[in-house]
Amino acid sequence: MQTTGDISAMRKIVRALSRPLGFVPTMGALHAGHMRLVDVAREECASVAASIFVNPMQFGAGEDFAKYPRDVAGDSTKFVGAGVDVLFVPDVGAGAGAKAVAEADTMYPPGFSTTVDIGAMGMVFEGALRPGHFAGVATVVTKLLHIVQPDVLYLGQKDAQQTAVLRKVVRDLAFATEVRIVPTVREADGLALSSRNAYLNAHERSAAPDLYRALLSIRDALAIGAKKEDAIAAAHLAEGFELEYFDIVDADTFESLENLRAPAFIIGAARLGATRLIDNIWIAA
Ligand code: PAF
Repeated sequence: MQTTGDISAMRKIVRALSRPLGFVPTMGALHAGHMRLVDVAREECASVAASIFVNPMQFGAGEDFAKYPRDVAGDSTKFVGAGVDVLFVPDVGAGAGAKAVAEADTMYPPGFSTTVDIGAMGMVFEGALRPGHFAGVATVVTKLLHIVQPDVLYLGQKDAQQTAVLRKVVRDLAFATEVRIVPTVREADGLALSSRNAYLNAHERSAAPDLYRALLSIRDALAIGAKKEDAIAAAHLAEGFELEYFDIVDADTFESLENLRAPAFIIGAARLGATRLIDNIWIAA
């Protein structure tokens, strides 16, 4: 696996790779969910590129940017084992970037000010609770797509709203890239894999699958004709959870739906202690 932190070097490497080229962008702290994306990319593409970049622009004030788990050496070993051809880990300089975060020099060089605003979809649900989050995601992924120029972008279904936002970016800005959404990988008890699960203590970890169980109960209630508000009201979360939202949304627009119609996501978010958990169920057309 070739590894570089330099944009020009990355462009040169990817130009020499066989096509189609699959791309898996990550913030590192790799788990089996990320590795599933790489495996699918490996199956479907002649070459695979990945990136590791803890993107300061998508973290709000008071969020976990500083403590987000970082292990580039361990992550690189995993990518090598999975057959990734090239890894982009943007160099970190000493200058100030878009948010005056020294970590982000290559991606946010001094003077950086151009951002991607995806409109209304970026302001609901995760966007409402994390103002600026999706502008950060859309901006960094736009820049990564320009650098890597992949044929296929691989994203995990776990971050359902992110998948809708990035599909919109690709469509609206006419990227020559197909977006592939790969189903969520779960622990045996149903908890969706997430790098942030590492923050859960033992008690929280045992309660955490309740979010997925609640989503399943909403899906099952809707399937037998319950009204949305009744299905949501009946969904139970263990003590210690602080619910942020449950809803049913159009899979493309993320607009709230009164009645379930596919394609849709049943989405949920809750706090458990100091950790935010999000999850969803895909309702296929
Ligand atoms: O899902 C993530 O890990 C990040 O949001 C992404 C897509 C790598 C952009 O920073």
